[in-house]
Amino acid sequence: MTTTALITGANKGIGFQTARLLGTRGMTVLVGARDADRGKLAERELRDGGADARFVQLDVTGEESVRQAAKWVETEFGALDVLINNAGIARGDGDGRPSQTTLATLREVYETNVFGVVAVTNAMLPLLLRAPAGRIVNVSSEVGSIASMTDPAGPMAGMASVPYPSSKSALNMVTAMYAKELRDTPVKVNAANPGYCATDLNGNSGFRTPAQGAEVSVHLATLPADGPSGVLWGHLWSTDGPEAYGVLPW
Ligand SMILES: NC(=O)c1ccc[n+]([C@@H]2O[C@H](COP(=O)([O-])OP(=O)(O)OC[C@H]3O[C@@H](n4cnc5c(N)ncnc54)[C@H](OP(=O)(O)O)[C@@H]3O)[C@@H](O)[C@H]2O)c1
Repeated sequence: MTTTALITGANKGIGFQTARLLGTRGMTVLVGARDADRGKLAERELRDGGADARFVQLDVTGEESVRQAAKWVETEFGALDVLINNAGIARGDGDGRPSQTTLATLREVYETNVFGVVAVTNAMLPLLLRAPAGRIVNVSSEVGSIASMTDPAGPMAGMASVPYPSSKSALNMVTAMYAKELRDTPVKVNAANPGYCATDLNGNSGFRTPAQGAEVSVHLATLPADGPSGVLWGHLWSTDGPEAYGVLPW
């Protein structure tokens, strides 16, 4: 039986690397991209690398696009094993401080990072429930962890911004609530922290590679039946010591 994984925002960055890694594990990877040219280019590159990759047009902020994508997955595969809500944007106003935030920016970021996740999840959930062991991975961030962001001794002590961090905090709650609703089903729902990775999202300033970030999503997408559900798991950013992975505080 084919195992299928849909990754949103899979044309570049962490999403592309997630598709590549799942493809090497023999999964059919459905390469969600809002732009057809960029999506087809990614599909070709993944296929050239040996993955069974299929582009699917998917703008997570477009209701019709989400509906059509779910219809296409149902027609082609009948079920969906893995959904990775990876598409995300980061925006800021002025010098980035909370007091500079405009509602327009806040709405734009939430449309993709929060509302888009709920829309895609609800559209795909019937298909995930048809799979023997559905997995949902919401790509979040340590900056969505209120405990981490308010730790005066932590690496993010100096960071203060509203749109992106608060959208990821909302996404963490979204994750916890879906996990609660689905706790008596085989479906597991977790939030991923890829760590600070060099991608276009941050002007390529991260100290980890997109592939390292993708490994976190792959781990959560391939959890065994006794794995956790409803946690924020991934890279633990400490200012000293070797790289570590684990559950982060909400
Ligand atoms: N990089 C980091 O350090 C880091 C850390 C923690 C969490 N994350 C999260 O990791 C995820 C991936 O980010 P990245 O760092 O890989 O950034 P990226 O390279 O900028 O990739 C973002 C992807 O999301 C897509 N996207 C944006 N809006 C979309 C929409 N409305 N519909 C469909 N796709 C859309 C982009 O497509 P286009 O090419 O069309 O714009 C692109 O494929 C995000 O959720 C981000 O918040 C990143």
